[in-house]
Amino acid sequence: MSNKPIYVTQPFLPPLEEFLPLLKQVWDSKTLTNCGPFHQRLEAALCEYLGVPYISLFTNATIALVSALQALRVTGEVITTPYTFVATAHSLLWNGIKPVFVDVEPDSLNLDPAQIEAAITPQTTAIMPIHCYGRPCNVAEIQRIADTYNLRVIYDAAHAFGVRHHGQSVLNHGDLSVLSFHATKVFNTFEGGAIICPDAKTKKRIDHLKNFGFVDETVVIAPGINGKMSEFNAALGLLQLEHVDAAIAKRRQLDQLYREKLAAVPGIHCLAHDPDAQTNFSYFPILVRPEHRCSRDAVYDKLKAHGIHPRRYFYPLVSSFPMYRGLPSAHRDHLPVATAAADQVLCLPIYPDLDPAVIDRIVAIMLAD
Ligand SMILES: Cc1ncc(COP(=O)(O)O)c(C=O)c1O
Repeated sequence: MSNKPIYVTQPFLPPLEEFLPLLKQVWDSKTLTNCGPFHQRLEAALCEYLGVPYISLFTNATIALVSALQALRVTGEVITTPYTFVATAHSLLWNGIKPVFVDVEPDSLNLDPAQIEAAITPQTTAIMPIHCYGRPCNVAEIQRIADTYNLRVIYDAAHAFGVRHHGQSVLNHGDLSVLSFHATKVFNTFEGGAIICPDAKTKKRIDHLKNFGFVDETVVIAPGINGKMSEFNAALGLLQLEHVDAAIAKRRQLDQLYREKLAAVPGIHCLAHDPDAQTNFSYFPILVRPEHRCSRDAVYDKLKAHGIHPRRYFYPLVSSFPMYRGLPSAHRDHLPVATAAADQVLCLPIYPDLDPAVIDRIVAIMLAD
């Protein structure tokens, strides 16, 4: 086996020769951006593939999150999870909104609906949960609370490409969902992202916001941003779409293998899939429980010493970073489940071309003295 380092992920790329003709079309057309033909084709293809009504492509998910909040004119306070990538909370600060952190559920590590109502104040206008590792949130309960208190729901669905719940796309829940097509994601366009929305009117507003607020040559209706996906990225996305099912199938096999092999390691808990969901196997998170022979960080260091580089997603908790830790909701006593998960979690390498022998190596390292 090669001694090349193994990282938590490796971007999926289609064969270069399949991309070159698309690149030539971009060169010939001289249309590089501003919602050109590839951009439009990818939007249509993704609506069909994902089973969603409207989609607007972005340069990345972070700009899409910032724009999603603006599209719905969200202000004041937004209830969110500390157990996420920093971009979720950062998108609130970029809009001058105060994040209110609520703890997560122990099984899914998603925002705990049972704790949302206690965090609602007169300033609350929205809830921003994430489908962590692609596992669907308790969407029914979150919607019930949102309806009761007249709140908006914007899902950070960065991990949830292609995930289905009770037979339909999880991306159709809430008011808006935001996808990431970053290099590390199941479906990548190098960098990229998208907002899924339910109607043509909302899409129009989002499309204006990602183009500086321009409606036409002379009319600007909002302080929009430059969030447009380029033709290069959109062309790549069209090609990636042809390969994504095969890529997810390979991930599924690796996920299954991990579960079989790790069953032999005491104190290692693999996060369960939701039986009502069709998942995308985007991550392979484990919890290194106190019953394991050594701590999470010791496992992390041991694997790294053998050239295997897992990641501690999500450690440290977002709520512990300097721009958030002064908030009353950020106190670790208020977030015991998220705090324990952040101290125990390790995301192991998973990507379509991962050699299954690496899984044997990881298990052997965990079992060795
Ligand atoms: C949960 C979550 N939200 C948002 C983002 C930001 O996505 P992007 O890199 O496309 O801006 C990421 C990861 O990159 C993420 O994991």
